[in-house]
Amino acid sequence: MAHRIVLIPGDGIGPEVAAAAKLVLDAADVGIEWIEMPAGAGAVETHGELLPDETLDAIRSCRVAIKGPITTPVGQGFRSVNVALRQGLDLFAAVRPARSLPGVATRHPHVDLVIVRENTEDLYKGIEFERDSEQAAALRQRMRDIAGIELRPDAGVTLKPISVTGAQRIVRFAFDYARTHGRHRVTVGHKANVMRYSDGIFLQAAIEDAREFPDVPWDEIQIDHLSAQLARSPQAFDVLLLPNLYGDIISDLCAGLVGGLGLIPGANIGWEYAVFEAVHGSAPDIAGQQKANPVAMILSGAMMLRHLGEMEAAANVEWGVDETLRKGEIRTPDLGGTATTMALAEAIAAEAMAWAPGPS
Ligand code: NAI
Ligand code: MG
Repeated sequence: MAHRIVLIPGDGIGPEVAAAAKLVLDAADVGIEWIEMPAGAGAVETHGELLPDETLDAIRSCRVAIKGPITTPVGQGFRSVNVALRQGLDLFAAVRPARSLPGVATRHPHVDLVIVRENTEDLYKGIEFERDSEQAAALRQRMRDIAGIELRPDAGVTLKPISVTGAQRIVRFAFDYARTHGRHRVTVGHKANVMRYSDGIFLQAAIEDAREFPDVPWDEIQIDHLSAQLARSPQAFDVLLLPNLYGDIISDLCAGLVGGLGLIPGANIGWEYAVFEAVHGSAPDIAGQQKANPVAMILSGAMMLRHLGEMEAAANVEWGVDETLRKGEIRTPDLGGTATTMALAEAIAAEAMAWAPGPS
């Protein structure tokens, strides 16, 4: 087998879209050996924890994984597996292409942008102090001492760290991505006028490191203004470089622009490892009903193929998606159809193979 890949089915619609992606990737025939590993609710049942060490070890050994979404239980004592995975493997860059797909009617045609989201810092770093806790009280006292700041006694606190190191590497990643993927411009979204010492560092890193990429034009825009511009004329944007929280929100906004969460793929990339996953979550409202759109997960698989150097197979899979959607006969309910997850995957696999130049 040419490639050993960890497959994490995940929760909710995860196993359904993972099986769909596996079917299409197997049809692409690049010799993938699947190492299936648990994470999420299923892993709690079998291994007693959300993210078993064995799963992390398998990813470290294979270096590449594709995963379905994982439910984050709401409430105390739970940390998001996704956040733990991104931090544990230092997957500092999330790459999320949002492009208009044929046959999918939307408000705006010809959208083709890529979100590059910083994945390890910001408000998602997990530094939180619960309301009424001893730690929160100590923090309140400390704030009073060092800055004369009076926090309300009933406040919970989440901290937003952004480092020069963290900002520089994502800036360089985004500009390098733009350069190597034939993109025309990087737009940095921030709120540096208000969060001067966190977003300020992000913006400053862009100003300084962009000098090393004189061939990549760039600009910067405040995140609220960016939201308005995206709603009005998303075609005006190319690569969007965003800190963690804004990147999360704008990813879903861009999903909405091109036809919904079922369509947007993603990659979490670090220097050593890469984990591919759709932008959407575990969609408990439609789980287990074969209603989920597998396209986001299948396109995540195409990104993985490209990462593995399997350019032709990646192009075949993307072609398969485009052709199937363009013909429009087989659509999942989110696209106005009645087809099942697996039926759409089978149609995509058939189109992908039909286009393939054949065995070489
Ligand atoms: P969600 O993305 O799961 O669902 C939002 C809406 O989009 C729902 O109406 C859902 O039915 C629809 N949707 C999502 N994916 C779809 C698909 N492939 N086909 C058709 N419709 C689709 O977001 P929500 O409800 O906020 O989160 C549910 C759970 O997923 C939470 O526990 C959350 O923490 C988790 N989550 C996990 C992620 C991951 O593992 N990477 C990412 C985002 C959320
Ligand atoms: Mg999200």
